[in-house]
Amino acid sequence: VLIRAATTADAPALARVHLDTVLVAYAGIFPATATTPDLEGTVREWEEAFADPTFHAFLAEDQRRAVGTVAAQADPDPDPDSSGVATGQLRRLHVHPDWWGRGVGGALYETALAVLKADGYREAGLWVLENNEHARAFYERRGWTLVPGRTLEWPGLGILEVRYRIPL
Ligand SMILES: CC(C)(COP(=O)(O)OP(=O)(O)OC[C@H]1O[C@@H](n2cnc3c(N)ncnc32)[C@H](O)[C@@H]1OP(=O)(O)O)[C@@H](O)C(=O)NCCC(=O)NCCS
Repeated sequence: VLIRAATTADAPALARVHLDTVLVAYAGIFPATATTPDLEGTVREWEEAFADPTFHAFLAEDQRRAVGTVAAQADPDPDPDSSGVATGQLRRLHVHPDWWGRGVGGALYETALAVLKADGYREAGLWVLENNEHARAFYERRGWTLVPGRTLEWPGLGILEVRYRIPL
């Protein structure tokens, strides 16, 4: 599996793997009544993300087939006590379920952390679904700590995202 920097032209491939991953990984987290994300909307989300000049995206490919994604950018939601500290955000870490447990997520994660450090951020943050125990354990093993009391709510669904941070 090779990791390369992605561009807007890769939005369809990024969206495909993103969607294939979350439809499996979040099936037990979102209620059956929740709207299922579609490919068109997910492609648009990725295209729009590239409009931010601080945004980087990476694609993991197995013989040119997209199997994982990650993104890094300036953090739009820095923690109140980190004022003045340049903070980046880790986002969109998704590995296709067929490739879980083979080191792809770890490699994408390292790529994103390296680019955040290279861009000069001294700290990083991320949001993860409160009930996504697998991903939370993945981040905690890598030294991320929970920011107590900071949550984002998915409107109408009662689902929460919790916040983690790490010094770089
Ligand atoms: C969380 C996620 C990105 C992890 O990706 P992954 O490719 O399974 O991760 P890895 O294989 O690198 O690591 C997971 C475990 O697999 C094992 N592993 C790592 N490298 C391995 C290898 N080469 N061979 C076999 N097993 C390996 C390890 O036990 C590793 O645990 P570690 O955290 O102690 O290193 C993936 O499960 C995922 O996409 N989940 C759904 C989406 C999601 O929740 N994203 C986070 C959004 S905030």
